[in-house]
Amino acid sequence: GRVAVVMGGRSAEREVSLNSGRNVLDALRARGVDAHAVDGIPALLDALRAGHYARVFNILHGQHGGGEDGVLQGALESLHVPYTGSGVLGSALSMDKVRTKQVWIAEGLPTPRFVALRKGAAAGKVDVHAAAAKLGLPVIVKPACEGSSVGVTRVFRDADLDAAAELAARYPGDLLVEQMIEGDELTVAVLGREVLPSIRIVPKGAFYDYHAKYVAEDTQYLCPGLEGAAEAELRALALAAFDAVGCSGWGRVDVMRDREGRNFLLEVNTAPGMTSHSLVPKAAGTVGIGFEELCWRVLETSFD
Ligand code: DAL
Ligand code: MG
Repeated sequence: GRVAVVMGGRSAEREVSLNSGRNVLDALRARGVDAHAVDGIPALLDALRAGHYARVFNILHGQHGGGEDGVLQGALESLHVPYTGSGVLGSALSMDKVRTKQVWIAEGLPTPRFVALRKGAAAGKVDVHAAAAKLGLPVIVKPACEGSSVGVTRVFRDADLDAAAELAARYPGDLLVEQMIEGDELTVAVLGREVLPSIRIVPKGAFYDYHAKYVAEDTQYLCPGLEGAAEAELRALALAAFDAVGCSGWGRVDVMRDREGRNFLLEVNTAPGMTSHSLVPKAAGTVGIGFEELCWRVLETSFD
């Protein structure tokens, strides 16, 4: 049947999603799939109610109409329409870095120390200075529910904390002040039950931010990111982290590795980027899974 490739939407990652979506659409069509672009959740739900599509390839990124946070997944479950990737719980949990970390800690999985700043907390707000004092500088201040490093600041001086918190607070959801791990940034993709080789990201600047992710041509990607037992250990950790938050289908687990070789889980992306700069296509490519095959394998996750 016809496949809706849902992209765009209203999140801060709209442009990234449109970019990912166009690539996916072209790849599926090249594989003979009757695939069509749909922009955002309202248009998708209208088309589904009209019976236009048999299944959904979800390449929306982000929360609140972004389609990565469980809301779309719940609607699709209600309509009995199969879709790619994680279900309601895995999507919702993974969108929220604070709750994700709490689950990992409960499971004994390593993640950087943090303090949550809850915007609407009935118990009152924790202040960003108190949080940083508890963790020790440097810290990273993030919106709990964004992607692509949107709203994220690395803070080295107390004087910069307020501006970082104000920036992060512009996005919906809570804030997170996290201990900064100095070392290597790694990511591990899960495709079906297969764990792909890790990628080590070496940005030209100090930080793998939005620019280094999507614009810069000088960010270096090493794949596999580690060797031997360390690589095997990292992949096993990533899969455990993915399973712990109830994810399924496909996704990408982001990890920091400190100078002593200890891994710290950062987050799971349940609709990872598929742009020409994105990581999952690079990891797949190194094990002989080309972009078209990758898109087909992701589409297959909707058949489970
Ligand atoms: N949130 C972006 C799309 C990613 O994880 O690739
Ligand atoms: Mg992310």
